[in-house]
Amino acid sequence: MLLRRGSKRGSGRRPGPTPRDYSLTGPQAAAALAAGLADARWYQPPIDPERLRALMERENGRPARDTALWAALVAGTGTAALMSLRRRSRLAIAAFAAFGALYGGSADARWHENGHGTAFKAKWANDAVYHVASFMLLREPTLWRWSHFRHHSDTIIVGRDAEISYPRPTKVVPLVLNYLNLVNGPRLLLRTIQHAAGRIDGTTRELVPPDDLPRLVREARVHMAVLGAAVAGAAMSGTMVPLLFVGLPSFYGAWLLVFFGITQHAGLREDVLDHRLNTRTVYMNPVFRFLYLNMNYHLEHHLFPSVPYYNLPQLHQEIKAYLPPPKPSVMAAYREIIHALRQQRRDPTWELPLPELPGGPFQPSSGVDPAARPAGTIGRTEGEQLAPTPGEGADEVVDLGSVEVVGIGEVGRVDVDGHVYALYRLEEDKFALTDGLCTHAQAELSEGHLDGCVIECPKHNGRFDVRTGEAVRRPATRPLQAYPVEVVAGRVLARLARRQ
Ligand code: FES
Repeated sequence: MLLRRGSKRGSGRRPGPTPRDYSLTGPQAAAALAAGLADARWYQPPIDPERLRALMERENGRPARDTALWAALVAGTGTAALMSLRRRSRLAIAAFAAFGALYGGSADARWHENGHGTAFKAKWANDAVYHVASFMLLREPTLWRWSHFRHHSDTIIVGRDAEISYPRPTKVVPLVLNYLNLVNGPRLLLRTIQHAAGRIDGTTRELVPPDDLPRLVREARVHMAVLGAAVAGAAMSGTMVPLLFVGLPSFYGAWLLVFFGITQHAGLREDVLDHRLNTRTVYMNPVFRFLYLNMNYHLEHHLFPSVPYYNLPQLHQEIKAYLPPPKPSVMAAYREIIHALRQQRRDPTWELPLPELPGGPFQPSSGVDPAARPAGTIGRTEGEQLAPTPGEGADEVVDLGSVEVVGIGEVGRVDVDGHVYALYRLEEDKFALTDGLCTHAQAELSEGHLDGCVIECPKHNGRFDVRTGEAVRRPATRPLQAYPVEVVAGRVLARLARRQ
């Protein structure tokens, strides 16, 4: 089902339908599944695969610099806050405001990018920053990893996406209170306490696989232990000072998180399979872009989540012809959001006008996929057409073509008898071959990022060792089938499982 709601611009006040159920375990979840909105295929704009490969490259230098600067700002403003508090200076308020915004607000972008595993080339660095930022935001790391995977699979699909922040009809009081985390914060804390006690709620069970629940409980206990230490410190010292530095910044600094975060999806369409209709890109100044790690290019991020934040501006240039015009400023975005949320408060079915889109909104049921490419080709460009032929005398040995069909360090798609494979060229004469669809949600691995012997899925950043097929990063947990492959006389020969 696509674009369920027609635009009712200017329709004025009218009685709206019964508020929808945004829980992941209610009737709307079943309706989304029945309507084919879960784990569905989404629009992707065409892009030169060489260029996309270059944009997906990771590095350590730039994120290390940005992370160090952010950490220094957190430490610097925190120190200034403590000193001015001791001197009873009025500057303490400004210092705490800055410290809180960096801690409880700007941590969100660090949490997000490192959670995707796209900031640093080094996995350990992504994980370290992710865990620290999760604590700063009162988010349980494993639960929120799985929640965010779902957010990318089913963005703003009611009953599927646990991260819909602005349900309809608009509720103004919680919206305003959440600028200080006064609604979400207590909920997050309460849930962490329950998880630390081993009590797992239905939403968590819906999102997190059973294997990961023990880890989730351990993390909840660690978070509660650190927060408990801050509470104990406050009690023993008879002052709130420890809590002003641990725990409370997640509340009084949350305004910056909401200030940026509301621009991502608020007021846009629910239950569509085209991110151009439910995700917003906003041009921002360099200071905002540093604090927000370029997540103002949010539409580009949803379309290609494997592109690290530092390459999003270039990605925007590559594909902007296929996207709605970005909002020219934060002010312009807020004007649109406030207008839409006010309308949707009165009438939950109200929609912003459809933007101009090349080819119109993506209609999966029409079979028109602007990103579609013919089977039997590698990449999206006109490369060598593969015409696999059974090897002589052994119908399981298949000639996949000359070694030149895939560049060194690249991955390509191979179709044999209707089955999709991914062919990886690891070195000059060293190849690997696996099934071509991710075991998590069937995304095409030939569009992913190959780093050494590890392929990263383009959809949720799950990873596999292509030599063995082993799943090495969540949400991928089941291995890929890997197939023997060798180079003979400049040809790539694979031994494939016989298919009936
Ligand atoms: S489809 Fe989700 S990690 Fe591949």
